[in-house]
Amino acid sequence: MSILPNQGNGKITVPDLMQRKTFAAANSPHKKITCLTAYDYPTARLLDEAGVDVVLVGDSVAMVALGYESTLPLTLEESLHHTKAVRRGVQRALVVADMPYGSYHGEISESVRNAMRFVKEAGAEAVKVEGGERRLELIAKLTEAEIPVMGHVGLTPQSVNALGGYRVQGKTAATAEQLLRDARSVEAAGAFAIVLEAMPRELAAEITRTVRIPTIGIGAGPDCDGQVLVLHDMLGLTFHEPPKFARRYANIGEAISQAVREYCADVQSGNFPSDAESYHSDASLKGRKTIPIAR
Ligand code: KIV
Repeated sequence: MSILPNQGNGKITVPDLMQRKTFAAANSPHKKITCLTAYDYPTARLLDEAGVDVVLVGDSVAMVALGYESTLPLTLEESLHHTKAVRRGVQRALVVADMPYGSYHGEISESVRNAMRFVKEAGAEAVKVEGGERRLELIAKLTEAEIPVMGHVGLTPQSVNALGGYRVQGKTAATAEQLLRDARSVEAAGAFAIVLEAMPRELAAEITRTVRIPTIGIGAGPDCDGQVLVLHDMLGLTFHEPPKFARRYANIGEAISQAVREYCADVQSGNFPSDAESYHSDASLKGRKTIPIAR
């Protein structure tokens, strides 16, 4: 191919994100990576137009948008459905699809086929898989199949049963060592970036210094190469206390409740709809028994 697509038009690509790490390591001016989750067309479009670098179709969709108790029940078909909607809303950002629990835990060849569906059918530009050392072979195979992979270590919500709950990870010397090994393995296997979730900031800083791929933190302190939040947490659109790292930038839940209360009151009082919000019949048709509806 003689022409490289998307060069210089602002489109965020995997090499762009990796280059930021090179600049960071050389102490050259660079921008931190911004990442947020989205699960549908309007939020994906709003995020993209506001300038976020990476839109992650997180499996958090299971809990914050579909009402499941954990991320575990989410199916491959549900994930594909949400990724397709997000794809339609994004032009500039990199679209990364989270592979749901069960879609990459069996045979490697089946896992690669599942990942390919995100690329071929849903338009994802990369996939994310949870886990460190034990994902080495899978990440290498996905990379070999031209699918860029984002790793995810620390608190990995798909391991909630094995971990015994959603807890900060890597607080002891031994577990911190393991997380460092996990991050190095993910890098060695060929991942282009790695999410560090819920770990001491000192450990996240050490991992960030150690690996040559960008780290994207969530509950991992300010020293990562980028940050990610679950959109519904930062917008106040959840029904639980958000974790302490999830800064609230808006209270959209309250705004929706208030708007719905006002609408109900207006309907009950006759204040909605007004005459200006109503269609009117053509003057020449007045007096007729059947009036066509203007659309
Ligand atoms: O599913 C998700 O939203 C995630 C982020 C928290 C990184 O994995």
